[in-house]
Amino acid sequence: MAETGTDILKAKVLLEAGELVAIPTETVYGLAGNALNTAAVAKIFAVKNRPQFDPLIVHVYDIQQVNNYVTDIPEKARLLAENFWPGPLTLLLKKQSIIPDLVTAGLDTVGIRCPKHALTQELLRSISFPLAAPSANPFGYVSPTRPEHVDGQLGNKIQYILDGGSCEVGIESTIVGFEDGNPIVYRMGGLSIEAIEAVIGKVRLQSHSASNPKSPGQLKSHYAPRKKVIIGRIEDLLQQYPAHCAGLLTFQKDFNSPYQFILSPSGTLEEAAQNLFTGLHAFDKMPIEVILTEMVPDNGLGRAINDRLRRAAASENP
Ligand code: TXA
Ligand code: MG
Repeated sequence: MAETGTDILKAKVLLEAGELVAIPTETVYGLAGNALNTAAVAKIFAVKNRPQFDPLIVHVYDIQQVNNYVTDIPEKARLLAENFWPGPLTLLLKKQSIIPDLVTAGLDTVGIRCPKHALTQELLRSISFPLAAPSANPFGYVSPTRPEHVDGQLGNKIQYILDGGSCEVGIESTIVGFEDGNPIVYRMGGLSIEAIEAVIGKVRLQSHSASNPKSPGQLKSHYAPRKKVIIGRIEDLLQQYPAHCAGLLTFQKDFNSPYQFILSPSGTLEEAAQNLFTGLHAFDKMPIEVILTEMVPDNGLGRAINDRLRRAAASENP
């Protein structure tokens, strides 16, 4: 068990000593270390059991800071940052050499994000370096949206979890990169494509790929819970899988089963995103063998939710 609390000074002291701290953001909890300290960054990979070809996102507290770490900010990137930071958006920008190659897995771009969470904002302002932070889960597993998720997965490997409660957005940031100034979305996430396009016009989507070198974390079988996930019409799936050993992850429908998790009783995609990973974590503790689930409406945050569900179902882990 890791110590959990709201002591920003304690988090600061640990980070300054090159240790790791789990931090809350509006999307998911991050496993943070000094992004400019290669030894601290190496610890992040070790604790997560993450292959070093999968780059990390660097967290800053405002747009001004970005100039210290990147060589160029394309016009559309600047517009996005101005409109959506702090918020669930990561920009891939050409890096300066001060960012260690280990952070970016040797790529010449660095993923940068300004998170929207009061505790983490205060922490970032109190230290003199940016924080490298992947989601605080073992590699390939479901991201944590509550301090107890972090503790359950990595509690024996880290000293401190900064407790910021439940994550408001609940799904990882949307990742946008640029080719000749033109935007490409590499990961759908907590900022909808519609919101992005309203500011910078049409964007290209390049995710769902099993071997996308630009965003290695897009491996098809990411975000996998410990139980097999099957997507379909739940009523039909229940003909094949007996209800007493099936967990039901529904958008809004109530099957009156003891092993169900309703993503959004009120039927909103924002609420469903907020609850998605809590639902997947909850099934780990239930005496079930499979998780039966259905796609949610494929617009707004629904696209990112469906992306995570597909990846969870593609897993070969269980
Ligand atoms: O919401 C989030 O983004 C959370 C919170 C903690 O900020 N972080 C997060 O980090 O989801 P992580 O490491 O679990 O996922 C980051 C993804 C990975 O798939 C990685 O491959 C991709 O971002 N990435 C990071 N830097 C990149 C780069 N320079 N080029 C391409 N992909 C990059
Ligand atoms: Mg992750």
